[in-house]
Amino acid sequence: MLTQTSDWFPSDLNNQLTQPERMTPYPKKLIEVALPLAEINDASAYDKMPGIGPHPKGIHHWWARLPLPVARAVLFASVVDDPESHPEKWPTEEAQNVERERLFGILRKMMAKKLHEAPEVYAEAHAELMHHCDGHLPTVFDPFAGGGSIPLEANRLGFETHAGDLNPVAVVLNKCNLELAPRWAGCSPVNPADRQRIGGAESWLGAHGLAADVRHYGKVIRARAQAQIGHLYPNMPLSKEHGGGDAKIIAWIWARTVVSPNPAAQGKHVPLISTYWLSSKKGALAWLEPVVDKETGNYWFKVRTGLPNDLTAISAGTKMSKGGFRCLLTDAPITFEHIRSEGQRGRLGSTMLAIVAEAPQGRIYVNATPEQVRTAQSATPSGYPDTNLPEEALGFRIQNYGIRKHWEMFTPRQLTAMVTLSDLVKGIGVDVERDGLVAGLSPQEAVSYSRSVMTFLALALSRFADNNNNLCRWRAPNPALINLFARQAIPMVWDFCEGNSLGEAIGSWQVCVEREAACISVLIVGNEAPGFVKQIDAANAVNGIANLLVSTDPPYYDNIGYAALSDFFYVWLRRSIGSLYPELFGTLLVPKQPELIASPERFGGDKQKAKEHFEVGFRKAFAALREKMDSRFPLSVYYAFKQDDEESGGAEETGEAGIDLTTGWETLLDALVSSGFQITATWPVRASQAWRMRAMGSNALASYIVLACRPRCANADMTTRRDCVAVIKRQLPSAVRQLQRENIAPVDLAQAAIGPGMSVFSQYATVLEANGAPMSVRSALLEINRVLDEVMAEQEGDLDADTRFCVAWFEQYGIAERAYGEAEVLFIAKNTSFAGLEKAGVIIGGKGKVRLRRREELDPHWDPRTDDRVTDWKCTQHLVRVMTAEQGGGASEAARLVNAVGPARAENARALAYRLFTAAERKGWAEEALAYNILVTSWPQIQAATVKVEPDGPAQSRLPL
Ligand SMILES: C[S@@+](CC[C@H](N)C(=O)[O-])C[C@H]1O[C@@H](n2cnc3c(N)ncnc32)[C@H](O)[C@@H]1O
Repeated sequence: MLTQTSDWFPSDLNNQLTQPERMTPYPKKLIEVALPLAEINDASAYDKMPGIGPHPKGIHHWWARLPLPVARAVLFASVVDDPESHPEKWPTEEAQNVERERLFGILRKMMAKKLHEAPEVYAEAHAELMHHCDGHLPTVFDPFAGGGSIPLEANRLGFETHAGDLNPVAVVLNKCNLELAPRWAGCSPVNPADRQRIGGAESWLGAHGLAADVRHYGKVIRARAQAQIGHLYPNMPLSKEHGGGDAKIIAWIWARTVVSPNPAAQGKHVPLISTYWLSSKKGALAWLEPVVDKETGNYWFKVRTGLPNDLTAISAGTKMSKGGFRCLLTDAPITFEHIRSEGQRGRLGSTMLAIVAEAPQGRIYVNATPEQVRTAQSATPSGYPDTNLPEEALGFRIQNYGIRKHWEMFTPRQLTAMVTLSDLVKGIGVDVERDGLVAGLSPQEAVSYSRSVMTFLALALSRFADNNNNLCRWRAPNPALINLFARQAIPMVWDFCEGNSLGEAIGSWQVCVEREAACISVLIVGNEAPGFVKQIDAANAVNGIANLLVSTDPPYYDNIGYAALSDFFYVWLRRSIGSLYPELFGTLLVPKQPELIASPERFGGDKQKAKEHFEVGFRKAFAALREKMDSRFPLSVYYAFKQDDEESGGAEETGEAGIDLTTGWETLLDALVSSGFQITATWPVRASQAWRMRAMGSNALASYIVLACRPRCANADMTTRRDCVAVIKRQLPSAVRQLQRENIAPVDLAQAAIGPGMSVFSQYATVLEANGAPMSVRSALLEINRVLDEVMAEQEGDLDADTRFCVAWFEQYGIAERAYGEAEVLFIAKNTSFAGLEKAGVIIGGKGKVRLRRREELDPHWDPRTDDRVTDWKCTQHLVRVMTAEQGGGASEAARLVNAVGPARAENARALAYRLFTAAERKGWAEEALAYNILVTSWPQIQAATVKVEPDGPAQSRLPL
């Protein structure tokens, strides 16, 4: 467990408290004291993984969705009192720990996988929450609801929930979660096929009935689409080589073409192919062989199987290593500039490269045929939305290549399918309504139910659009179609994949409906309280309701352009179900202007104006929220440092001790402080699958920081920088030590320390610099960094002399060799000697040079029991050595060492790992920093293993944590 003992009402300092510190009219909540962060991290990372089965995230795509477990944990911990707040019940620290452990027990259960299958866990959490609120849960409000993780979990925990978002797409999907699915919970399906089934595998609990209807009417739509446009999706006649007969087509692989810049090619179009691989999967290799007729200038592609002679050439396609492509006919380079210029004149074409099909013997790759090309070209779509892409927008690249309309993101056949399916979704309401009446619904219910089914089918159409556009890729290593929004941007795709819309493989309407239905079926856990969803501009109108528990994940400065990205879905939702929600779909495109994003494109390229728009809106939003909050509960705010996509914004400037001062982060803190909040805790949450290892390399920031905030009291003091820093210095060290005692990952320490530090800074109405100007958040963060540095350095006092030398040397030179003279000064300063350090086996010298021994040079058979110069440095390095060993080693080996050196030295080694991590990170030695991080994060396993290996070694007491 991790605690934050920063004292926004410190118990040990009562006499020195400033006025705001003394005023704490409410008990601290768990989130303001401690969280089982490791379990929350693991559960959140799992939740983010693709392919974990039906999940509410599959209802509709949203960019950078918050993982459900962290949303759940934060809500729970914002309501549940920390035992420290009730000394009358738990008078001792020990008793408080026992009670906290009990609360953690509930939280840990809440972190289980597939929690929708464990309604009893939600029920237990709900009961605990009720207990902390005298039987009346507060109303939860999320004004930036987006993909809906926070409201959904609030609703499942039994809170009345209000969700708002500016974006109509987000509003619709939240409506599905909070209004539509719960409205029909426990109802049987109305379609005649399922209605006849009595007591089948599905008992129509939760949203299973609704899911069954979505599945059924989705099939009806497919059959109708087949009748209307089935001719565009013919089967593939197979050659004898492939066993004859017909194969069902899975996908067509296309490449864009551009006129060759080389006059020798006589104006022919040539393909832009990023790889010739169709399948690079072991045992199923398939690739394209280009065949060029130099005389006629014609070319085509043969599908080949087996291992190609020249792997590099196959991987490269017609790409050039230096960037750009090469002309297939003449080898002339094709620059991006040429492609852009042709694209903007509307002169890019496309050519079919190959076909993927399902033959009786399994998946096959076959040559494109003129019939298949002709069929694709015969589609003549009409009636599609004719809307413009933004001229420029965050993450959009395609406009550079002449794609300026949303419909241009589809091939004619894809567009025909979109229009057809959209019409059929629009028309299916009549069938549902009719069947609903037959099934016994009242006329009003039948209309309402048909609208719900249509809405979910429209969401399935969104999924279909994501999988059915000319920016989808074909993935060769594990062959499959990749949807457009596998990334949170719209980059250009040269060779794209067109799935068979009426087929049965990934990307088809059938699969999209099936997935939608599966996700609907896991929406309801049976504990839901009423939910309400509204389109709002959080900066201008929040909500009429007061006494709210606010938990929210606001926009990330300039990280994701939600409004521009979501137009892709909006135009089709509007076309299909716009008439059902006229208040949401009044505009041609998603409203852009009020969106809180620092997007210079919206301000004629003016960065400053964009920043101001974001900052002003943010402050207004939080100031309004402050007025609406139930004073018993802290506001919880998420800040996403880094999103899944590599393209998302990174750090701009790194503070001295590792707190990244991105503009977004600073803006958020600033907005909170200036709108009257005091930050009472900060929790780094890792939602990356590899959080324990790779992702925790030196510069790997947590995915999210969760902040707990309280309204600052109205009569808060003003203070000077000097006094504020003095309080930070007084309070931060114990908070940092506490975090270390509780084994926070070194990589997370700086971010977690912001909580206790900012808690001090933000308790004051104003902190004045010597010149009378207000101290900025940035200065406060830098000050917190500095104090953190000092805390690290102070820990040196506990180390032995040899170690003090090694640490100082490492901090300066790492493991580089330096002149003996430089070392000599340090030997004296640290009260040790070359001979002693050499004997200890931690240093190597010769020819007037000195350096630290590398870990791989340490004695692999080191036995501390026979070593008469054991040092903290050596213990740390050996522990890191065994924990990072590629072979052997591991927690049991580390436990053996720990048992041999004893708990005190082991504890020193762990503490030293924090310091060495910071030093390595500061120098940019990523691998080295990672190694120390691994040691600390593995400590619980080592601790567990010490018990097991005890019989082997000289019994020592159990390793403390
Ligand atoms: C980071 S996202 C929320 C993600 C969400 N927690 C999830 O799990 O998907 C931020 C949201 O703020 C919304 N937003 C942006 N400006 C807004 C405004 N002025 N008022 C309300 N919502 C806004 C965006 O549409 C976006 O959905």
